[in-house]
Amino acid sequence: MATALEELRELEARALAELAACTDEGALRAWHGRYLGDKGQLKAALAKLGTLAKEEKPAYGAEANRVKGSLSAAYESAWEAVRERALTAELEQPGIDVTLPGRTWRRGRLHPATTILRRICRIFAEMGFQVYRSREVETEAYNFDYLNMPAHHPARDMWDTFFTTTPGVLLRTHTSPGQIHVMRAAGGRPIRAILPGMCYRNEAISPRSEIQFYQIEGLVVGEGVTFADLKGTITSFARRLFGPQRQVRIRGSYFPFTEPSIEVDIDWPADDPNRERLTKGTGWLEIMGAGMVHPKVLEAGGYDPRRVTGFAFGMGPQRMLMLLHAIDDIRLFWQNDLRFLQQF
Ligand code: DAH
Repeated sequence: MATALEELRELEARALAELAACTDEGALRAWHGRYLGDKGQLKAALAKLGTLAKEEKPAYGAEANRVKGSLSAAYESAWEAVRERALTAELEQPGIDVTLPGRTWRRGRLHPATTILRRICRIFAEMGFQVYRSREVETEAYNFDYLNMPAHHPARDMWDTFFTTTPGVLLRTHTSPGQIHVMRAAGGRPIRAILPGMCYRNEAISPRSEIQFYQIEGLVVGEGVTFADLKGTITSFARRLFGPQRQVRIRGSYFPFTEPSIEVDIDWPADDPNRERLTKGTGWLEIMGAGMVHPKVLEAGGYDPRRVTGFAFGMGPQRMLMLLHAIDDIRLFWQNDLRFLQQF
């Protein structure tokens, strides 16, 4: 029968032979578990010390420690060898192929909403309009009161509003408050301005409505400005944007800040296959609200309604883009989906 010391040496020989066969990290770890781990064979061999006769103990203990040292050192160098081999293999891989085509920079572009905004601004610039920007966070006074909608005015229901935690401060629901800012900045001089910008409404999001969207407001104020000027301006604009054949139709409507108020439709080309759907069978499509500026609004802007008159209009440029490109879901604008954006 093998003596305890011989068993120790056999354990060492077996462990070293198995270690020599380990060529990757997984095998090394498994080997470690089998021999040097908490439940490994060397632990078991050390535990045997307690069962030996007193005179055998010192020699066995010394030998067990030597075997432990020997296996630990062998384990370390086996790791070294495995790492070395992995590095060599990596270095022997073929180098970079400089003849492959490089990665090209992808060129960005303007967002379609920006493009339509600029297009509309350009059309009005040709007609002598200036661009006036005003704030998106507004006071209740500018968004409603100065526009002839005092507190509790039922017309406020037309704009479902995001109020901030500061009383009287809100996200503007339309660009119309800009009319007051323009008038106050112009200080009594004649005005011909458009006011593009972002608006916010507390809407249930659907293919037709979003909680944020662009509007473009227009305002003309001066002596002798008439409804005919409004009609001519709008007609000219519609033809420049949608094509020279377009007919414009005007319907009576209601807005608190204009009197009279109108809605403006354009006829849709008879040869467009989308005509039925877009115009719900009527052939006409609404493009904006407008009207003659209400005397109270002129007063709020610091103008004397007995001396000057004005007209105003408001439109949704994203809606126009949807018409021009047969886009059927307004939510696509702010989803940042490149499949949509790259088409423009
Ligand atoms: N502010 C209106 C809205 O958001 C649009 C509008 C209608 C603006 C008539 C005007 C106007 O300036 O005259 O629904």
